[in-house]
Amino acid sequence: MNIPNIKEARKRSDKEVSYIYLNQEYDNSAFKNKKYFLRTYGCQMNVHDSEEIASRLESLGFVPGNSIEDSDVVILNTCAIRENAHDKLFGFLGRCKHEKEKNNPDLIIAICGCMAQEEGVVNNLLKNHPYVDIVFGTHNIYQLQELILNRNKKQQIEVFSCEGNVYENISYKRESSIKAWVNIQYGCDKFCTYCIVPYTRGKQRSRKSNEIINEVKQLKKDGYKEVTLLGQNVNAYGKDIDGELSFAGLLEEVSKTGIERIRFVTSHPWDFTDEMIEVIAKYSNIMPYIHLPLQSGSTNVLKQMGRRYTQEEYLELYKKIKDKIPNCAITTDIIVGFPNESDDDFNETLKVVNECKFDGAYTFIYSPREGTPAAKMDDSISLEVKEKRLQELNSLINNYSLESNKKYLGREVPVLLEGISEKDSSKLFGYTDTFKLVNVSGLKDNIGKIVNVKITDAKSFSLDGEIQ
Ligand code: 5AD
Ligand code: SF4
Repeated sequence: MNIPNIKEARKRSDKEVSYIYLNQEYDNSAFKNKKYFLRTYGCQMNVHDSEEIASRLESLGFVPGNSIEDSDVVILNTCAIRENAHDKLFGFLGRCKHEKEKNNPDLIIAICGCMAQEEGVVNNLLKNHPYVDIVFGTHNIYQLQELILNRNKKQQIEVFSCEGNVYENISYKRESSIKAWVNIQYGCDKFCTYCIVPYTRGKQRSRKSNEIINEVKQLKKDGYKEVTLLGQNVNAYGKDIDGELSFAGLLEEVSKTGIERIRFVTSHPWDFTDEMIEVIAKYSNIMPYIHLPLQSGSTNVLKQMGRRYTQEEYLELYKKIKDKIPNCAITTDIIVGFPNESDDDFNETLKVVNECKFDGAYTFIYSPREGTPAAKMDDSISLEVKEKRLQELNSLINNYSLESNKKYLGREVPVLLEGISEKDSSKLFGYTDTFKLVNVSGLKDNIGKIVNVKITDAKSFSLDGEIQ
């Protein structure tokens, strides 16, 4: 049993990262045709982890189920950042408990993801939710099969609060056959004062560039059209390995594989180099789209957040990107109601939004995360004020999203069609190079292709168009 420990999770040492080449084989008749139900909350990192989890379950013989009620194992991959994370976890557990007590005493219930890394959450599960069989952390996914095979009456908790290693030879059951996630870096060392990620995901550690390039080459061979390079701070890629490529160098090499579309998330404004901007501008298969979290427009709040840039520096970078990469779309993340954010501070955020006119933004009300420095700060701002600010910000953001989308009206743009639209089954959906969602009428055999689409209507969150 390994229980999470926030003090351990906070540690950063000079200990070298181990690169571990997994060679795991399992008897795939162990759970032949038993069903699994896997629900995922949170960011792309979690979505991609779930692709690994699904592959591990299938290596034991499990097949996908449709619900908690028709499954033999249920796994909830949790997020510690998004709103209502706790409510979602305990709501899900309530349903699982009911099912196990009333209908299926053999149901295996497992919890993983960022909340599994939180001391308070795991202690609560141990004390109050004995029907949960397995809790495994973000560093422990490789142990999943063993945990299921060796389960017994006792709860099994395997959560390392370590700086972390890098595992290779991981199999994924990818959700799409058109676009794929590719990890380039794990963890984060930025320690922004509000953020739990450096504690839940360990220290910043890069994968070796040759492994990344080989993965992209294989994906291309398998017919994938797009890869998204994943990391908490992709611009810091390679800094933790002597002699490794920089992120700009990596992008260039990935571009040379000839895969049709390359995206990357997330960039930190702090170490975004001119070289990166040049490379993105130079190669046509690197998409002109950057997610550049602002968090706050107030230099004072940015300082309290530990973000390492000022309002002026953010704006300067923003302008440089817009100047050098024609047609580049930029989206952002903004937190309102950081402890003691004044009206003036909030107005600075509005000012930056008015200057940047972002293509889109994810907005959040600050919520304290146990163990982070900001959670200890006094806060004199009421929730009511924070909610009002969020509303004001959202309506401004939505206006600019609509404005930026309207610029596409009448234009013809390349769109990678990904599937049938969820809202209207007579339509297909896809994304422009600038990551605008487009709904189009058209035949299914266009799915997986990049087609020219003429934009006929623009809304705040999507475009409509016709295949040319
Ligand atoms: N409260 C509110 N929003 C947060 N984010 C991260 N931590 C918190 C928090 N404690 C937001 C940031 C980040 C995004 C993924 O989530 O804006 O960029
Ligand atoms: Fe969190 Fe900051 Fe790291 Fe992003 S850069 S994951 S906000 S600590």
